[in-house]
Amino acid sequence: MKAVLCKAFGPAESLVLEDISSPEPKKNEILLEVYAAGVNFPDTLIIEGKYQFKPPFPFSPGGEAAGVVAAVGEKVQHVKPGDRVMALTGWGSFAEQVAVPGYNVMPIPAGMDFETAAAFGMTYGTSMHALKQRANLQPGETLLVLGASGGVGLAAVEIGKAMGARVIAAASSAEKLEVAKRAGADELIDYSASSLKEEVKKLTGGQGADVIYDPVGGDLFDEAIRSIAWNGRLLVVGFASGRIPELPVNLALLKGAAVVGVFWGSFAQRQPQDNLANFQQLFAWHAEGKLKPLVSQTFPLERAADAINALGQRKAVGKVVVKIR
Ligand SMILES: NC(=O)c1ccc[n+]([C@@H]2O[C@H](COP(=O)([O-])OP(=O)(O)OC[C@H]3O[C@@H](n4cnc5c(N)ncnc54)[C@H](OP(=O)(O)O)[C@@H]3O)[C@@H](O)[C@H]2O)c1
Repeated sequence: MKAVLCKAFGPAESLVLEDISSPEPKKNEILLEVYAAGVNFPDTLIIEGKYQFKPPFPFSPGGEAAGVVAAVGEKVQHVKPGDRVMALTGWGSFAEQVAVPGYNVMPIPAGMDFETAAAFGMTYGTSMHALKQRANLQPGETLLVLGASGGVGLAAVEIGKAMGARVIAAASSAEKLEVAKRAGADELIDYSASSLKEEVKKLTGGQGADVIYDPVGGDLFDEAIRSIAWNGRLLVVGFASGRIPELPVNLALLKGAAVVGVFWGSFAQRQPQDNLANFQQLFAWHAEGKLKPLVSQTFPLERAADAINALGQRKAVGKVVVKIR
């Protein structure tokens, strides 16, 4: 089978496409014929050795995929060969086949194509967990989403609207904000052109945002925490800007606010039933047309490096997908 391989940590340009033997699924695994693989920010980090997981070389990047079950290990009960499934692989999806533990595999709902399914799990799973279990977002509350046109950000805009919040989308350009607006955002802030804190103040009558969804970190976090409402919750989702911020905790005291960590992968493992319930809700909203995942660009397997660079160079909107079949 063909696979994109990382043989040493380095930039996306150092990835190579090679023919290698197919993986053998273990007893608890399925073998997936990959049709499409979603690109996520961790793919930019894992090839550079900057992610929390460092797989042994050579490995294929690609944290999630959608395709057809080719074979199942004897302990896998819930899917069978021929089923259309989506899978969270961690790495390995930028290849024609990948072996993945059964518990990380879900049937694709009827009416969802492979590209959408490959773009759905990580971003919507993360943002649903963040807004539901971690923020307890309530109808009528104000949700501020940073990086609102990116993968997890755009999902947070849509889920926030589906949960009945007033959504303020914040991003670094007018083009990116237009994408968030089309996804349902009520108000827009261009943080490359104006002060996030001042704009949030204006839009909330001085109150601040009840829930802040932050996948960016760095300087934006520093401003965002100063834009939070009394009893607000700031969701620590990621650090796409490259800097992990530090918090003077008096800011939390003054607003009676909480800074809340979000780690969807760990949640899905520790609370699989809650994660499943989240996905049942997400699939229902998708079927009702409330969620419209945006796949803005697709690349063939041999251009996986360009797909990763689209995210790493801050050019992507919505989701980028590597199309394998
Ligand atoms: N906690 C979890 O469970 C979890 C799960 C999935 C992902 N994440 C994290 O969430 C973050 C976003 O992931 P994603 O897949 O949604 O990525 P993405 O699609 O690339 O979106 C990231 C957004 O961050 C903003 N950004 C600011 N500075 C950037 C920079 N230097 N380079 C790239 N983007 C920059 C960009 O928006 P603007 O240009 O508008 O600022 C971009 O749209 C990552 O840190 C990822 O590791 C966390």
